[in-house]
Amino acid sequence: MVTPCCVIQGRTSLRGDIAISGSKNAALPILAATLLTDQPCVLHNVPELTDVANMLEALRLLGAEVISVGPRSWSICAKDVHTDARNPVVQHLRASVCLLGALLGRKRSASVAMPGGCKLGARPIDLHLRAFHRLGAQVHQPTGYVSLQTDYLTGTVLSMLGPRGPSMTGTSNAVMAAVLAKGTTVIRHASREPEIASLCRMLNQMGARITGLNSGTLIVKGVPFLHGTSFTVPPDRIEAGTFIILGYLRGTPVRVHGLTPQFLTENFQGFFDAIPSARRHSFFHDGAFEVHRIEDLPGLDICTLPYPGFPTDLQPQISVLASQAISASRVRDTVFPQRFAHIPAFRRLGIQAKVEHDTLHLAPHSTLHSGEVTATDLRAGAALYLAGILADGSTTVFRPDYVDRGYEHFEEKLQKLGAELTRLS
Ligand code: EPZ
Repeated sequence: MVTPCCVIQGRTSLRGDIAISGSKNAALPILAATLLTDQPCVLHNVPELTDVANMLEALRLLGAEVISVGPRSWSICAKDVHTDARNPVVQHLRASVCLLGALLGRKRSASVAMPGGCKLGARPIDLHLRAFHRLGAQVHQPTGYVSLQTDYLTGTVLSMLGPRGPSMTGTSNAVMAAVLAKGTTVIRHASREPEIASLCRMLNQMGARITGLNSGTLIVKGVPFLHGTSFTVPPDRIEAGTFIILGYLRGTPVRVHGLTPQFLTENFQGFFDAIPSARRHSFFHDGAFEVHRIEDLPGLDICTLPYPGFPTDLQPQISVLASQAISASRVRDTVFPQRFAHIPAFRRLGIQAKVEHDTLHLAPHSTLHSGEVTATDLRAGAALYLAGILADGSTTVFRPDYVDRGYEHFEEKLQKLGAELTRLS
């Protein structure tokens, strides 16, 4: 019996084409939103991820009819669902917290096990629960789960602002609890992450009346019911960013498909602002976004922020790129100030880095060498794959299951670009 791991032969140059899959963080709340109607919803471009498989199973356990209707397409009908999601499946992922808002909105009741998800530091849900309470729900938190109950939901004014910016899944939850409430709900300091707009677009297709998309203030006019719809999940901006960073590291070139100039403008302003030389090394050409290796990258000064700032979900990956810069870099994470559990693994591979409070300081020109490391979360796992592709010799990454949670067929896509890696399990 082999401990599951991925063995990566480093120093390969990468070239070729890869296609970006559907967005995990858009798909997960959208799946929860199918609970808001008794009619079928058909979803396309749903990525094949373990987090998605777990969310689909959570819907089945609630009594929804979940049917595959083609590659990455699902029909979900929540005609007869109950509201008890106290089960181990729900504990595997953070986004299961979105079941609370959808069940409360549709059934005025919910019991959901406390969400799991990557260990990035504190991950409270106080903003979610405060929103539910202000809409009229009684909130109870017995050990291990959250229980909501009310006879009616009444529109009100909510704020999703926490100590480190708006809450993304908190905003999704507030919207889903408000769409069928009586009256109008104003959600101030709403998350402006693009995945929220995707959710709101699908809800509006179902008959919801949500305005202010991308503005930071969402206005939700309650309606009596929602009907089914079909919806296509947008591309995953974090997967795209991960492959673009890989291209800056080893691209000769890497050609990323599935993006449009508009998508890059909407999703990558903060990213390109943080990497001054990026625009000279990556551009649309011949129907794909072509990314070339940056040989003499100036030191980076990155600060993660809520959208439209540099996304925290690319923090580990950009740190690997920064380790190769010709001068020192620093990477500050203001969203998850403790999101540095991967630094000991980075150091084992030769990355010269140290953490001070919420900031990672990186020396220039780190020479990466082989080693055995363990992924500590989904994005850190992807960053360790990038480091292994850079390193001399063979690198073993344990807990590759983290990567499977958020990157569809990641190893196959890397192999298609010329990376030499093998999954052992
Ligand atoms: C979502 O997590 C994403 N996950 C995360 O992606 C992403 O890193 C994060 O948003 C920030 O963009 C999904 O969408 C499934 P938050 P979420 O609520 O919603 C604090 C990945 O790799 N906060 O926006 O859980 C919180 O502690 C994952 O795909 C409160 O204080 O994050 C954090 O500091 C990792 N109270 C900040 O707000 C609350 O009630 C942002 O958290 C909720 C959050």
